Amino acid sequence: MGSVLLTGGTGFIGSHTAVELLLAGRDVVLLDDLSNSEAGVAERIGRIAGRQPPFVRADAADRRALRRVFLDWDIEAVVHFAGFKAVGESAARPLAYYRNNLDSALSLLETMAEFGCRRFIFSSSATVYGERCPVPYREDMPAGDCSSPYGRTKYMIEEILKDAAAADGSLSVVLLRYFNPIGAHESGLIGEKPSGIPNNLMPYITQVAAGLRPRLNVFGNDYPTRDGTCVRDYIHVTDLARGHLAALGFAEAHRGTEIFNLGTGRGFSVLEVVRAFGEATGQPVPFEFAPRRPGDLPEFYADASKAEAVLGWRAEKSLADMCRDSWRWQQNALKQD
Ligand code: NAD
Ligand code: UD1
Repeated sequence: MGSVLLTGGTGFIGSHTAVELLLAGRDVVLLDDLSNSEAGVAERIGRIAGRQPPFVRADAADRRALRRVFLDWDIEAVVHFAGFKAVGESAARPLAYYRNNLDSALSLLETMAEFGCRRFIFSSSATVYGERCPVPYREDMPAGDCSSPYGRTKYMIEEILKDAAAADGSLSVVLLRYFNPIGAHESGLIGEKPSGIPNNLMPYITQVAAGLRPRLNVFGNDYPTRDGTCVRDYIHVTDLARGHLAALGFAEAHRGTEIFNLGTGRGFSVLEVVRAFGEATGQPVPFEFAPRRPGDLPEFYADASKAEAVLGWRAEKSLADMCRDSWRWQQNALKQD
């Protein structure tokens, strides 16, 4: 068996996926330009998994660098995590997002064609469903009604991959639509490290609990939900990582394009997450209600039945696990700084 190339392999989801693949006996090559992660993550992945994966510092859009990787290793599949992902920033810097996210996908597809590598797993997002789709989101609903340039890059890459697979019957493409990944590896060695003020809920909560910020602003308490705050499908990053292992197995046996939601199928409100965090960690999270954040949808969560039926995968970890592991990581990350 050859190696699996993980672009964005030292990032939040890539690093957890690397650990799960290594533990399952797969060989991986990590590629990352370190625009949003640190080289030390590669060493920590090796420490958790008991063997050190090779790490290449390169831009995934750089075809010469990619050719070197495909010459040096027998790459049998690519999992493409690399990309810019901040929704707000994508509205301020759309061209940087289109350039980075689209170019890296195209360069990978071209290099894979050159070397006969036929399996592409793509990190897409639930954001491609958009506000017109009723919840729970199902893979066969129309997509593309995205509310940000970031979301549109995900949708455009999905379409590019579908066209590539339609034109080449030997290609196997798996589009994974992630819901809201949170948590961290239970070792406390790897996790998400947002730079600056966190945009996302869980990193903000852990920073409040650590005393780095005075309180959480809960964006909106007048949504048409059970307690007025927004509902999301939070999934533990280790569960999400294991979904990639299942997707790789699927890609080995199938051709064409297949889409899977990776979520738990269950939604929690912002206030439910705040309460669960306090109960799981013993750390209270002071909060106050603030105005709605533009672009937020009241409620979304996955219909997770297709991944269970076809991939034999489902999320196992609880919201309490997600809170405990996020908190452990926050405490460790603080010690490292
Ligand atoms: P992350 O920023 O932690 O990881 C992405 C990694 O890609 C970073 O290490 C960054 O340095 C690297 N990178 C960026 N551009 C690159 C390039 N051109 N060449 C090489 N490396 C590059 O983000 P993440 O949370 O791990 O997300 C991984 C993927 O999953 C992204 O594509 C993201 O859009 C997608 N996704 C994430 C979420 C989420 O909530 N975290 C949700 C849905 C989809
Ligand atoms: C956002 C992105 C999504 C991306 C995901 C990464 C949008 C529209 N969507 O999703 O594309 O994949 O991040 O996880 O931006 N909240 C607060 N206070 C805070 C932070 C968040 O109340 O300080 C609330 C938000 O209003 C939201 C919920 O918490 O209701 C979750 O927010 P967040 O973690 O940012 O994720 P999403 O907005 O769902």
